Amino acid sequence: DLESRVAALMAEMTLEEKVGQTHQVANIDLAADTDTLRAGGIGSSLYASGATAGNIRDEGVLAGVIDEIQEQAVGGSRLGIPVLFGRDVIHGHRTVVPIPLGLAASFDPDLVRDCAEAAAREAAVDGIAWTFAPMMDISEEPRWGRVAESFGEAPVLAGRMAAAAVAGFQGDDPSSPDRLGACAKHFVGYGLSAGGRDYDTVSVGENTLRNLHLRPFRDAVDAGVLSVMASFNDVDGTPMHAHRRLLRDVLKDEWGFDGVVVADWNGIGQIVSQGVATDNREAARLAIVAGVDLDMVSGAYRDHLADLVRSGEVAEELVDDACRRVLRMKFRLGLFDGSATPERRPTGNEPTPESRTLARRAAHAAHVLVRNEGVLPLDSDGTVLLTGAFVEEGDALLGTWVLDGRGDDVVTPAAALSEALGDRLTVDQGRFADETLKLTRTADTTVVLLGEHPGRSGEANSVVDLGLPPGQLDGLRALAGLGKPLVAVVYTGRPLDLTAVLDLADAVLVVWHPGVEAGPALAEVLTGANPPVGRLPMTFPLSTGHIPTSTHQRPTGRLIRADVDHQEGRYVDALTHPRLPFGHGLTYSSVSYDAPMLSAPGVAADGSVTVSVRVTNTGHRDCGEVVQLYFRDPVARVTRPLVELLDWRRVELGAGASEDVTFEVSGAAFVYFGPDHVARLDAGEIVLMTGPDAAHLQSVSLSVTGTDPTWAGTP
Ligand code: IFM
Repeated sequence: DLESRVAALMAEMTLEEKVGQTHQVANIDLAADTDTLRAGGIGSSLYASGATAGNIRDEGVLAGVIDEIQEQAVGGSRLGIPVLFGRDVIHGHRTVVPIPLGLAASFDPDLVRDCAEAAAREAAVDGIAWTFAPMMDISEEPRWGRVAESFGEAPVLAGRMAAAAVAGFQGDDPSSPDRLGACAKHFVGYGLSAGGRDYDTVSVGENTLRNLHLRPFRDAVDAGVLSVMASFNDVDGTPMHAHRRLLRDVLKDEWGFDGVVVADWNGIGQIVSQGVATDNREAARLAIVAGVDLDMVSGAYRDHLADLVRSGEVAEELVDDACRRVLRMKFRLGLFDGSATPERRPTGNEPTPESRTLARRAAHAAHVLVRNEGVLPLDSDGTVLLTGAFVEEGDALLGTWVLDGRGDDVVTPAAALSEALGDRLTVDQGRFADETLKLTRTADTTVVLLGEHPGRSGEANSVVDLGLPPGQLDGLRALAGLGKPLVAVVYTGRPLDLTAVLDLADAVLVVWHPGVEAGPALAEVLTGANPPVGRLPMTFPLSTGHIPTSTHQRPTGRLIRADVDHQEGRYVDALTHPRLPFGHGLTYSSVSYDAPMLSAPGVAADGSVTVSVRVTNTGHRDCGEVVQLYFRDPVARVTRPLVELLDWRRVELGAGASEDVTFEVSGAAFVYFGPDHVARLDAGEIVLMTGPDAAHLQSVSLSVTGTDPTWAGTP
């Protein structure tokens, strides 16, 4: 079995060879690294650094280079240990689908699984065996550029999407040649970087980590994720790459994670910059003790681990454990059995009709309609002016973290709308100049494309102002001044301050960065051929100054009503409620909600109850509705969120139709971590709430019974 194969191999290995397995290089330089490879000395390789990776890809030799290196490792080294090739395959590989925040707007884990599966196959063609995805940082801070890579602010949504992505990347058998190992990142608290500045410090207690931020990681571990990446931030002063309590005690010991903990890029070296180690040698000691198994590119393990063991500063068992985990992952991926050899790999990863169909399904599902004063769908015989940014953009619609996709593969909004509307469409390149105003006067409806370029979101792209990039709002104001029907389409990697846009435009669609099928998905939504179904996976604030505005705000000592605008101590110069609440999204119809009903007034800790809600399509068109269930725990041993998403159902409702939507709710759903960081479930009231978003809810009271106040269960 796997463990005995690992043990047999390790019995043959020298200390240096074991250390070699804990060392990851970026883009092996064949000329310089061949000797190291021959000595079995490279645990894994990373084809990630933008420019080099791009060049390799453009020359069409990515797989070729990988094969050459693999040959040196397997055929030319003493023990024939294969190299594990990792790459950031984040949202599609060649066929780019929406950014993860856009995928989260689908509230559809099956879609996320399908996209991950398709990306795995395309990446496997290039010889990649491991992706640094999915990212599941709970994202409450829209100034932080990396929210684009996340599944939003709700732990249950992020957790289900993360588990679905793991299932899609890895499948039932990660050693299949068309699958990849997945990586749950970034562990943990990165979404709380101070001020939304990337890589910044994090001050958070273990209680908040356990009740919110650790939960998606637990879901990913339960889904069998093969690796976890440590995050760049510290947590309350301890760099995560040196955080023994969270990495070793919680992730590895408490949760039983037996896969690889990989450092982030130079994360071990950065312990020195963070002022917690004097040099790489000390950083290596702290990281291996904390539980980091694989050093991404710093070289600290390669240069110092063997010596640290010989000097007695690091127990050899720690190096053995790290090496064992890396080898275990290589066995699990089938690398020792040739799963990634050219003969076994799938072939062909150019976008195909099938991969485009999936990309279009995903792009469509990411479209969130947040305002509509009767202008959408477009009249079937009206004329349309298409203007603004992104009209004929390719690259800009792919989004952040795209290493292998190509702008040329994007079907642009102009191309798709020309196809859909024929000569009823005028495409304007004037970008709000006088000519644009003239054209706007003559068109029945103007569709203006706004928002931010992907270069303004993603890693190391934080902003102080969530407003639209300079000039766009002035342009929109000028168009709105003409009084003609105006549709604003917003491309973005983060929640923006849309307060003015929502005032100026008659309809607003938030479409994120949608990928290669950006144009067709937009055309389908605008014409009504495929109406919008997406919901916001993050709260959109009234203004930048309102952050934080996520649903997870907890009650204060001056709570007047369970509503943020009615808590004493809020702003004197503005209301506090979100501009667009979490879960918000309109359809082309209207849906009414009855009050929720329970199958029984109480639930035992080990029992379950059904909550049902009747929803009725009161409009004249069919629609897709995301029926949402939230809860609040009014009295607990720690302050608990005012509103927390618990579950949701996507339903299709014909015009005039009603449906009773039911949720099975277990008593264990209300387990939380108390002040001592121990899981507990208290007897008492839980408020369950149903509705179309986090701000429009009707409630019913449920009683949790039969639990001992000191109950400690498995969350
Ligand atoms: O996977 C990424 C991570 O998210 C940020 N730093 C670099 C890694 C590898 O490219």
